[in-house]
Amino acid sequence: MSELINGVKDIIKIGEDVFVPLLTEEQIQARIKELAAEISRDYKGKVPVFIGVLNGSFIFMSDLIKSVELDCEIDFFKLSSYGDAKISSGKVTMLKELNCDVTDRDIIIVEDIVDSGLSVKYIEDLFSESKPKSMKLVTLLTKPNSVKYDVKIDYIGFNIPSKFVIGYGLDYAQKYRNLRSIYVLDDDKGI
Ligand code: IMP
Ligand code: MG
Repeated sequence: MSELINGVKDIIKIGEDVFVPLLTEEQIQARIKELAAEISRDYKGKVPVFIGVLNGSFIFMSDLIKSVELDCEIDFFKLSSYGDAKISSGKVTMLKELNCDVTDRDIIIVEDIVDSGLSVKYIEDLFSESKPKSMKLVTLLTKPNSVKYDVKIDYIGFNIPSKFVIGYGLDYAQKYRNLRSIYVLDDDKGI
């Protein structure tokens, strides 16, 4: 393991790539509390099912539901990921199915990041078939300049530049999910 530990690092070097801080643990936690308060207001008196998209959303979902003041249920499913690359393969497949029945339920899909929007489009189409009572989407991050598909995002933590990020659930080749803050690839491309 490199110099990676859970303290705040100025930079993280992965091979030739250099990552610099984008969002601190404090910024992330403060924003999640705001999102949780908004969701708690919107779903007052309801029992929503939070549905996390594995693997990236597990830390966000955990912190989010701890601040939500509602009775709620949770479940997860898993989609194919970027694999070991920093660029999307452009294809989505289901790797682990949901276990609960979402018919007639208020469901809140929890994503780590919306990049092109392809995964969310796939998810929206998939869950509409099961006829939930309502379906909303919360994502910690979105890259507004990368979104190519027509998707509706109901709650957004942060809009970020179109650059590759790691930490707080987000991986690079399956690693670095355990960083408490979010780091961005420091290059001149993107945006
Ligand atoms: P989309 O289908 O292009 O919107 O990509 C969505 C998925 O790709 C996210 O749920 C993440 O798992 C992954 N992803 C997108 N951007 C990044 C990134 O910058 N770092 C790590 N994973 C990412
Ligand atoms: Mg994801």
